[in-house]
Amino acid sequence: MEKVLLKDISAYLDQEITLRGWVFNLRSSGSIAFLQLRDGSGFIQAIVSKKEVSPEIWGLCEKITIETSVELTGKVSKHPKKEEYELQVKNINLIQIAEEYPIGKKEHGPDFLLDQRHLWLRSGKQWAALRIRNTVINATYEYFNQNGFIKIDTPILTPTACEGTTTLFEVPYFDLGKAYLSQSGQLYLEAAIFSFGRCFDFGPTFRAEKSKTRRHLTEFWMMDAEAAFVHHEENMKIQEELICHVVKRVLENNKKELEILERDTSKLEKIKEPFIRMTYHDAIKKAQSLGSDIKDGDDLGADDETLLTQDLDVPVFVEKWPKEIKAFYMKRDEANPNLVLGADLIATEGHGEIIGGSEREDNYEVLLQRMKEEKMPLEDFEWYLDLRKYGSVPHSGFGYGLERLTGWMCGIHHIRETIPFPRMINRLRP
Ligand code: 4AD
Ligand code: MG
Repeated sequence: MEKVLLKDISAYLDQEITLRGWVFNLRSSGSIAFLQLRDGSGFIQAIVSKKEVSPEIWGLCEKITIETSVELTGKVSKHPKKEEYELQVKNINLIQIAEEYPIGKKEHGPDFLLDQRHLWLRSGKQWAALRIRNTVINATYEYFNQNGFIKIDTPILTPTACEGTTTLFEVPYFDLGKAYLSQSGQLYLEAAIFSFGRCFDFGPTFRAEKSKTRRHLTEFWMMDAEAAFVHHEENMKIQEELICHVVKRVLENNKKELEILERDTSKLEKIKEPFIRMTYHDAIKKAQSLGSDIKDGDDLGADDETLLTQDLDVPVFVEKWPKEIKAFYMKRDEANPNLVLGADLIATEGHGEIIGGSEREDNYEVLLQRMKEEKMPLEDFEWYLDLRKYGSVPHSGFGYGLERLTGWMCGIHHIRETIPFPRMINRLRP
């Protein structure tokens, strides 16, 4: 008997096949049992009719509980009303009869579900969200491969901070003292572009900030990209193209998943180039005019970000920030040295900042001065300053948070559901 995956089921209409998976729901009328089967690649309703199978097989069918693992053999038919396939079961093989499953049909609170994350992963919405995450990852690789970027793996154990010392996780490191878990591979990618021109990395990053919001994890996946001879404007262009490519692939590849998540796809269909550009100064004014009490010089809060895009169909780049509230490496704006050529990309529908990026300071003296102002340990950054001594060039880059981008694609409110095993201030298990 051919072993078939549900994603390929349409090729097997009227044929006898064997499916392997888990029964995630079932009901029986006493003479007919309806088993909802999941095999990882899809879902199907399997029908066992008492009069069509032997008493032994019917006996096995009666033993099935929710999450029992099974092998079902039968004929593939079309659902009488819906655009779906069904399996008319002839044979059942029980692999393991599941104990009473803790996740029931009743409403569970998020804490309970997070405690049961190892099981919760099996539910339809979680399946859908993590498959969309997979599409986002693949679309990102695809975009960069088609556009001359090569993947450079940056280190996770690092001697210094990239985005500020208050948010670092420390690890004891042999005789060398302390190491820190990486907050972003950016600084290392900057070194790599002098060899490869255009690079990206993609990996876990760590932030020890005490933020308990729906958009903060302590461990999350970041994609950083960096390119030589790219200025601020072109940097935003690359981001726009990348995001549009990701949206396109999600819409093409994840119809079923978006349906399970009840995502309003018309919103995603409107994500097209060009995105809006707005200076930090104008963003503050807009937020204030919509009722925010934010002051000039403040960082944008989550509510401000929501206000900024509430009337927009496409994301907005908030650019040209006061240098005091942005990282040391951002290039100053020649037209106004109090500002830096950085942009945050704010997603629509209240999903907030998904990308942080900037042109980088490429002048040795200016960068050194900036680092001194911030009282950074210069000896640890000598190698980074070297990059401005040996053939310095204009260059720019950006980084996206995979969970925030996936959350936006899925229309999921809290990003903890867009990573398989979320790590938050108060959660390290399972
Ligand atoms: O804006 P951030 O801090 O930028 C950087 O780290 C730069 N070095 C990136 C670069 O230029 N290569 O972080 C980038 C993105 C944010 O826009 C956000 O999407 C995500 O990473 N992010 C988080 N996601 C989940 N939980 C957190 N605690 C996050 N902090 C940042
Ligand atoms: Mg940021």
